[in-house]
Amino acid sequence: MTEPGSVTIEQLDGDGVRAALPALAEILRDSVANGASVGFMEWNTQADFESFWHGIAAEVAVERVLLFVARDESGIVGTAQLHPVGKPNQPHRAEIAKVLVHSQARRRGIGEALMRAAEAAALALGRDLLVLDTDEGGAARRLYSRLGWTEVGTIPRYALMPDGRDCGSTFFYKELG
Ligand SMILES: CC(C)(COP(=O)(O)OP(=O)(O)OC[C@H]1O[C@@H](n2cnc3c(N)ncnc32)[C@H](O)[C@@H]1OP(=O)(O)O)[C@@H](O)C(=O)NCCC(=O)NCCS
Repeated sequence: MTEPGSVTIEQLDGDGVRAALPALAEILRDSVANGASVGFMEWNTQADFESFWHGIAAEVAVERVLLFVARDESGIVGTAQLHPVGKPNQPHRAEIAKVLVHSQARRRGIGEALMRAAEAAALALGRDLLVLDTDEGGAARRLYSRLGWTEVGTIPRYALMPDGRDCGSTFFYKELG
């Protein structure tokens, strides 16, 4: 049970992701509508967002992706993913992806809590080198720096903003333990 004002972080299995799909699609839609460069454009539809999460549910079911959600009294308000790298020569590495908090739930420490959960899960799996990239101009860059991630550099024109403008991506790594 979630107390009013409190937030819990949970890891979902594949069925859990499918059950949470409307909330996850809404969080993705909201982030894109608010200008985040997270793989989608402003012309993408609800069907596109739902299709993305269906694919993630399948990956979670076979443990290729670990998915975390943040829940408050209103329901699921944030999410983050850990992708253990499947290559035989990188058994110690994982990537963090799609750290998203609904715009109405930001600046309450939920992004940080999701990151801490993903990092703890990585360490428990023996994945002690983490990598991520993020939009060079977004709030996430400050979050990762604050949490001890090392900024490697920015690749210009790596992706597009939802409105079609160029967007550089800033790469980070963190060694755990
Ligand atoms: C990046 C993102 C996940 C951060 O989520 P969040 O829940 O707002 O993160 P936090 O609350 O932990 O930290 C955000 C800020 O709130 C501040 N904060 C945290 N708790 C606070 C509180 N109780 N009161 C006031 N401020 C608070 C933090 O210090 C931080 O400040 P900063 O922006 O100056 O660094 C969110 O902005 C987001 O979803 N952005 C769009 C998607 C995106 O770009 N994701 C990254 C893709 S890799």
